[in-house]
Order: sequence, then C-alpha cells, then structure tokens
Amino acid sequence: MIKRLNNFLRSRIWRLLNLHRYARLEKRAFIECPFILTGQKSISLGEGVKIWPFARIEVFTGSKLAPALIIGEYTTIQPFVHIGVADKVTIGKHCLIASNVYISDHDHNTSLPRSDPLYKNDYLQTAPVTIGPNVWIGEKANILKGVSIGESSIIGAGSTVTKDIPSYCIAAGSPAKIIKVWDADLKKWVAWEGNPSEK
Ligand SMILES: CC(C)(COP(=O)(O)OP(=O)(O)OC[C@H]1O[C@@H](n2cnc3c(N)ncnc32)[C@H](O)[C@@H]1OP(=O)(O)O)[C@@H](O)C(=O)NCCC(=O)NCCS
Repeated sequence: MIKRLNNFLRSRIWRLLNLHRYARLEKRAFIECPFILTGQKSISLGEGVKIWPFARIEVFTGSKLAPALIIGEYTTIQPFVHIGVADKVTIGKHCLIASNVYISDHDHNTSLPRSDPLYKNDYLQTAPVTIGPNVWIGEKANILKGVSIGESSIIGAGSTVTKDIPSYCIAAGSPAKIIKVWDADLKKWVAWEGNPSEK
C-alpha cells in the first residue's frame, strides 16, 4: 500500500516537474530514474506511458531533420531500452517492450569506409520506424531503421528486425522471419512457412 502510494506520488511529481521539458507528457506518463535522455522537446508520451529505469533515449535535435519520438498511451518499456531517433520513431498504444531492446531509425553512413569520426549527425542515414498498437517486443530484440511492425504482432527475444513485419504475426530470429500468424477463424497462432510478401 505504502509502495503504491510512493510510486503514485513519484510519478505525479515527476510529470509536473517535467511537463515544460517535453513536447507532450500526458497524465500518468512517467520515466523512472536513472536515465540518459536527450531531445526531450521532441518526445511525446501518451497517457500512462511507463518507461522503466536505465533507459537511454536520444533524439538528435541538432540534426538537419526535425526528429520526433512519439509513444502511445499505456505502452510499457522495461529497463535498459535504447532508442535512437534522428528522424521519427512512432510506438503505438498498449505496446510492451521488454528489457534491453534497441530501436533506431538511423545508421552511420555505410556507403564508404570512413576515417573521420562516425558520431557526426551529418553522416547519418535515416528512415522512420513505426511500431503499431499492441505490439510485444521480446527481450534484447533489435528494431532497425525503416522498419514497420504491424498491429498486435510479436517479436521474439533476441531477434533483429530488418524488414517490415505485418500485423498479427509472430516473427523471430536474425534477421527476423515470420514464424506464426494469427488465424482469426481458429482463434490461435498457426505456423507460417510462406513468403512474408504473401502474408
Ligand atoms: C516469439 C515467442 C513469443 C514465440 O513463442 P511460441 O509461439 O511459443 O513459439 P514456439 O516455441 O512454438 O517456436 C516456434 C519456432 O520458432 C522458434 N523461435 C521461437 N522463439 C524464437 C526466438 N526468440 N528466436 C529465434 N527463434 C525462435 C522456435 O525455435 C521454433 O522453431 P522450430 O519450429 O524450428 O522448432 C517466444 O519464443 C519469445 O521469444 N518470447 C519472448 C519472451 C520475452 O522476451 N519475454 C520478456 C518479458 S516482457
């Protein structure tokens, strides 16, 4: 009871103190300390978004684009997430993102071998990432630039998603492939052997 009250007060106080720092912070949105955060003015958190401790979230507002991170209502992001945004990352409502997940909409420029420092924003290659509502991303998964994950899909633990995953699929492996699809008639996940483009 005391713990719940403590959590309630901490999250309310945190939001009130930080409202002006973010693009949007809806009620009950909360990022638990400690965290590494840059570009708060480009971050929008919907109602009830909970981000657990040790998040590393970097929105590179110094780049030529106008980057944005948008997280929908009641999405939960577990500890040690790393989200890098140079363009746009959109995470839908009611998603569950497990610990140590990496989500990025950019790469350093890979067109040529480089000898100068790679961290310069000028050298980023970007493509937006979109994660639909009700998606569950398993522990230590990597979601790379340009990827869309459709509504209610599941990404297996340790997977690396390099291409779009449609709605109502389970995808796993590196690179992630569809392993099951939701059969609305049977009301269960069934094994998928086909080509992703046929889904
Ligand atoms: C993706 C997942 C949900 C699939 O569960 P499932 O439907 O029970 O899948 P199955 O065990 O029937 O596996 C089906 C096939 O996919 C493979 N597979 C399952 N999960 C996999 C993964 N994460 N990576 C690679 N392959 C995977 C299985 O080896 C199996 O292959 P096979 O047919 O060649 O034997 C589950 O394996 C998973 O990764 N869960 C995430 C757990 C997690 O991160 N929890 C954090 C708490 S929020």
